[in-house]
Amino acid sequence: MKQLFIALSLLFLIACQAEDKSSKQIKKTSNSAEEQRIDALLSKMSLEEKIGQTALRGSSSSSDGGISEEIIEDIRAGRIGAFLNVMDPEHMQELQRLSVEESPNGVPIVFARDVIHGFKTIFPIPLGLAASWDDEQAEICGRVSSIEATQAGIRWTFAPMVDICRDSRWGRISESPGEDPYLGELISAAYVRGFQGDSLNAPDAMAACVKHYAAYGAAVGGRDYNSAELHESQLRNMILPPFQAAFDAGVATVMTSFNDVNGVPASGNSFLLKDVLKGEIGFDGFIVSDWNSITEMIPHGFAADEKHAAELAANAGLDMEMTSESYENHLEELIKEGKFKEAELDDFVRNILRIKIRLGLFENPYTDWSTPPVYYEEEHMAAAKTAAIKSSVLLKNNKSLLPLQQSTKVALIGPLADKGHEQLGTWTFDGEKTKTQTVVDAFEAGEANFNFVEGLTHSRDMSEDQFKSAVRAAKRSDVAVIVAGEEAILSGEAHSRAKINLPGAQEALIEAIAETGTPIVLVIMAGRPITYFDYQDQLDAVLMTWHPGTMGGPAIYDMLYGIAEPEGRLPVTWPKTAGQLPLYYNHKNTGRPASAESFVPMNKIPVEAWQSSLGNTSHYLDYGFTPHYPFGYGLGYTTYKYSNLVIAEKQLDKDGTVKVSVDLTNTGSRAGHEIAQLYVQDITASTTRPVRELKTFQKVKLKSGETKTLSFEVPVSDLSFVGADLETHLEAGTFNLWIGNNAMSGQKGSFELVD
Ligand code: NOJ
Repeated sequence: MKQLFIALSLLFLIACQAEDKSSKQIKKTSNSAEEQRIDALLSKMSLEEKIGQTALRGSSSSSDGGISEEIIEDIRAGRIGAFLNVMDPEHMQELQRLSVEESPNGVPIVFARDVIHGFKTIFPIPLGLAASWDDEQAEICGRVSSIEATQAGIRWTFAPMVDICRDSRWGRISESPGEDPYLGELISAAYVRGFQGDSLNAPDAMAACVKHYAAYGAAVGGRDYNSAELHESQLRNMILPPFQAAFDAGVATVMTSFNDVNGVPASGNSFLLKDVLKGEIGFDGFIVSDWNSITEMIPHGFAADEKHAAELAANAGLDMEMTSESYENHLEELIKEGKFKEAELDDFVRNILRIKIRLGLFENPYTDWSTPPVYYEEEHMAAAKTAAIKSSVLLKNNKSLLPLQQSTKVALIGPLADKGHEQLGTWTFDGEKTKTQTVVDAFEAGEANFNFVEGLTHSRDMSEDQFKSAVRAAKRSDVAVIVAGEEAILSGEAHSRAKINLPGAQEALIEAIAETGTPIVLVIMAGRPITYFDYQDQLDAVLMTWHPGTMGGPAIYDMLYGIAEPEGRLPVTWPKTAGQLPLYYNHKNTGRPASAESFVPMNKIPVEAWQSSLGNTSHYLDYGFTPHYPFGYGLGYTTYKYSNLVIAEKQLDKDGTVKVSVDLTNTGSRAGHEIAQLYVQDITASTTRPVRELKTFQKVKLKSGETKTLSFEVPVSDLSFVGADLETHLEAGTFNLWIGNNAMSGQKGSFELVD
C-alpha cells in the first residue's frame, strides 16, 4: 500500500511539473479560523508552557539508551516544543505520547532533522543540483526526501540552504545554490515546493526551513562562522532574493545564521528578524536559531552572559531556540523584570503553533509504524540517477575523447572510484554506503573492458605504494579514467580549505599516469570547484560530478560511455587558483577594468622596471584576470552556434518587457542539451552595477543539425536594483544584453530604457 502511495505521489509530482507552479504554493496568509484556534489554545497555556514551545532539544536519551527522566518530566510539564535528531521509533512514539496525552495542553512535538539532499536515497549535493539549472530536479529531490523521511517520523527538515557564496574555500558552498541570486531563487522555491508538497498536512510533507538567515555564505575569507561585512544594498540585491523566493513559495520556517552581519550576530539582529522578515516580508511561520547560536552571541562579544543573550535574541524576534537553553533559563525572569514582553512571547508561540497546526500534528501526531518504511524505491533511485546526470559538468574534452567506446580498454584508477560513503557528500546522516552504487559497481554491471587499481586509498592519502600498479594498468590501457576529488568530510560545515586543489598525493598520481602517455579522463567528486589549472595539460577530459549521491556510479558510467550526456553548467565560477577568491561573474567593472591588451604578466616585466601606470588594471600579475571556467560554463557531446540575436524593441518604457530571440543550432553530430543564458548589464547607473547579471535561461534539446529560434522575455521591472541609498531604482539608460552559453560569451545586443 505504502509503495503504491509513493509511486502515485511521484507520478503526481511529475504530472504537475507542467502546471503553473504558483498553484502549488502553500497559502502564507493566516486565516481567521486558524488564528482563533491558536488564540484559544494560547489562552490556556501557562508561561512555562509557552516558553516550552520555544525549546528545540537535541537529544532525548539517557546514558542507558532509554529516554532520560529529565526529558520525561520536561515534556509532562510542557517544557519542550520540538526535537531534532531523535530517530528511535519507540522514543519518538513515547515522546509524542507524553506530550499529547500528559502535558497540560497536549501540544504535539515536531521532530526535525537535516534532510538536505535526500534521506536514504541521496541526490547530488545542493551545489551539484544547482548545476542542473533545473528547478524541477530540485523539486523532485525535495519530494523524494520528504516521502522517505516522513516514514521515519520526520516532519521538519532544515533545508533548503540558500546562502549565496562567492568563495569556494567555504566548506558550505557544497550545500548552497552557488553564486547567483537568480538561479538561487529558482532552486530555493523548488526545494520548498518539493519538501512541503501540495499541503503541509499531508503525511508525506515536511515543513521546510530556509537557512541561514542571513549572509552566512559571505563569511570573510571563506572561513566558516566568520563575519559578513556588506552593504545593505548588497544584502538586498544578492543575499535576500533566494530567501524571498522561499517565502513566496510558502516556506514554513527560517533558521538564523551563526555569523554576525555588519557587527550584529544574526540571532540577535532585530533589523533582519523583526524589521525585514516579520515586518517587510510579513513572514508568518517561525524562526529558529541555529545550534547554540543564541548563546554563541557571548563569544561574539555581543551578549555579556546567557541571560543577556536570551534578552537580545527574544527582543530581536527569534521564536525558537535550538539546543542551547537560554530562553528556558531566563525568559520568565526577563518578562518579570520588564526586559521582554510576554505579548512578544505570545507571538512566538502563535508562530510555532501555526506551523504545528498546518502540519496536521494536532489531528495526526503519530507516525504510522504499522508497515515498515519503504526506501530506495526504484523511482527514487532513477530520479537520483537522472539528477546526477543533469548535475555533472563536462569541463574539458580534448579531441572528443569522451564518450568512450564500449570496447575501449580502460584503466579505472582513483581513491573515489569505489567509495560508497564518500560519493554521498556532506549532510547525509541516513544514506547508507551499502546501498550506494559506485563507479566500479557500474563498470562491472556494464561489462566495461576495464581494470581497477585504486592508486590511493582515500583522497588525503600520501602513500605512493600503489602508484606502480596504477601506472602499469594505465600503460596497458587505451584510456585512464581517474576518479579523484575530496572525501565527503572535506566540505560542509566547518570544512573550509585555504587551498582547493586535489588533496593528498592525487596530483602526483595524475602526474605519474600522465607520464605513461595514456590519455586521462579525470572524474572529480567534490564539494566545491577543484583547481587544476597548473597541470591541465596532463588531462584530456575532465568531468565534474560534485558528490553525486547514491546513484553516482551508474550516472557516471552512462556519461562516460555516451549513453547519456553530462547536462550541467557551472553554478559557480571555477578559479585557476584559490588566490583568486572571492571570484564571481557578476562583479563590478571598476575604473580600470582588466583587458588582454593592458595586461602585462609577471614574466614580461623587465628587471628594475620603472614604476609606471602602464598595465595598471584590475588583475593578478601571476594568474591574470579570468577564471579557469566562467559561471554558466559546461560542455556537452555536441557543439552549438548562437546567431541572429534580435531585440524586438530597442526602446522600452518602464512597464515594458524586453523581448529577444536568438537562433541556436546544434552544429555537432549528435543530439544534445544546451542551456541558453540571458545576461544584462546596466551600463551607467546611480550605483555601479555588475558587468553582467543572469536574468533568465532556457534548457533546450536539439537534434544534430537542428536550429531552433529561442524567444526570451524579461520584464523591465527585473532590471531594478537597490542602490547605495537603499532605494529601489529602475533607471533610464542603455543596457547591454547577451545570450550565450556562459557568463563570458554570447551574442550581444543593446536596448534603451526611457523615462
Ligand atoms: C548547524 C548547521 O549550521 C545547520 O545548518 C543545521 O541545520 C543545524 N546545525 C542542525 O543540525
